[in-house]
Amino acid sequence: MSKKFSILIKKKLKDFNQTLSVDKDKSITHRAFFLASQCQGISCIDGLESEDIFETINCLKNLGVRIFKKKNKYFVFGNGIGSLRKFKNIIYCGNSGTTARFFLGLLSTYQFPIKITGDASLSKRPMGRVIKYINKIGAEIVEAKNKFNLPLVIQGTNYPLAQQHILDVPSAQVKTAILLSALGTLGTTEIVENFDTRDHTEILLKYLGAPIRIKKIGNKKIISLRGCEEMQSFNINVPPDPSNACFFIVQTLCMKKSQIKLKNVCINYFRTGFIDILNKMGARIKVYNKRKIKGEYVADILVKSKRLKNISVPKSIIPRTIDELPILFVICGLSQGKAKFNGIAELRIKESDRIAAMEKGLNLIGIRTKSTKDTLTIYGNPNIKFQKKISLPTNLDHRIAMSFFILGQTLGVHMTIKGFESVNSSFPNFLKLQKKLGAKYEIKK
Ligand code: S3P
Repeated sequence: MSKKFSILIKKKLKDFNQTLSVDKDKSITHRAFFLASQCQGISCIDGLESEDIFETINCLKNLGVRIFKKKNKYFVFGNGIGSLRKFKNIIYCGNSGTTARFFLGLLSTYQFPIKITGDASLSKRPMGRVIKYINKIGAEIVEAKNKFNLPLVIQGTNYPLAQQHILDVPSAQVKTAILLSALGTLGTTEIVENFDTRDHTEILLKYLGAPIRIKKIGNKKIISLRGCEEMQSFNINVPPDPSNACFFIVQTLCMKKSQIKLKNVCINYFRTGFIDILNKMGARIKVYNKRKIKGEYVADILVKSKRLKNISVPKSIIPRTIDELPILFVICGLSQGKAKFNGIAELRIKESDRIAAMEKGLNLIGIRTKSTKDTLTIYGNPNIKFQKKISLPTNLDHRIAMSFFILGQTLGVHMTIKGFESVNSSFPNFLKLQKKLGAKYEIKK
């Protein structure tokens, strides 16, 4: 766990013209480690190095998977499906919901009991959304805080039952947990998905030659995977994360006369709803040099400063921009007109209640908002001037910390952001890249 620190911003950022490479994709890196552990042979992963990823690596090591690092690459010794061993009684997932939910899926086909734990934020997050599916295949939760929270003890089954699962939440974590469970399940598991969630697991499984089939029927997707089939090891160089790129894109748009070029960003359709939203608001984000690497599209992105107009954002696009909503709220606060985000209830159960956290920050500097359980209205104010000193908590939530940072830098608000160490869970080089843009801040230990 990183040492606690706060960030103090006093000065407004000056215009910049830069080319950057943001940190690698967290979602793809998690999946690469999980799947490598189920392959036969040594896989080589050049991916994100952040706290959430270290939690996944440590948990896999505690389940008997040999992993070592040479330069910035990780070598995972996979012994195939069903090869995990209980080396420790407990695995600790830190702040990482992806790690915890993926392990619930993966461990559901192992008969040994094992305790899954996490930090204070993760212990509040709902695990019931995965548990209900693994219960169906025969796995049990023998102990859990409030029935569905960490810490919990899972006892999987040696005789999992392949069947059809209908997804009732727009969650790629739940979908992936079921796919990981399906890997160790004899027969064909079918998932019916009615939402647009990220498909990195399906892409990687396809690339590995796993017997996965995806059928589209109208807005519905039917994903079927035949389990207990061998997969061979692989090498992967994970592209930069669009969720990290988004902070720099918004920051550039909010300046007067700046420009940024971001190299090789993953532009998976299910991750780039924010580009569509920003373009609808009037941005002209150029996505070019598009190419496909190991099944995933990557491209360079060019952005120039531009004043935007707020819009109403429909529920249908939300799963494609779920992690970028906090930073989109920042740019809506600084743009003209009324913005309304619909169907965003999922945001209340992320690392923190992100609607409440962002409203608090925006309201403190004088931007009006109104919310219900699943909507947020922001009354933008492009001419806001704010002089007072403020201090903001981040509730162990990396995306809230980075969103406040961009808000503070853009306006030059005298702002203390507490718990900034949470940024290490997804984007350890965030401050280094901000320095490159010319950002001035103090670190308070
Ligand atoms: C993720 C899926 C999303 C996202 C999270 C990463 C993934 O969560 O918010 O940061 O890697 O599958 P949900 O699937 O719960 O929406």
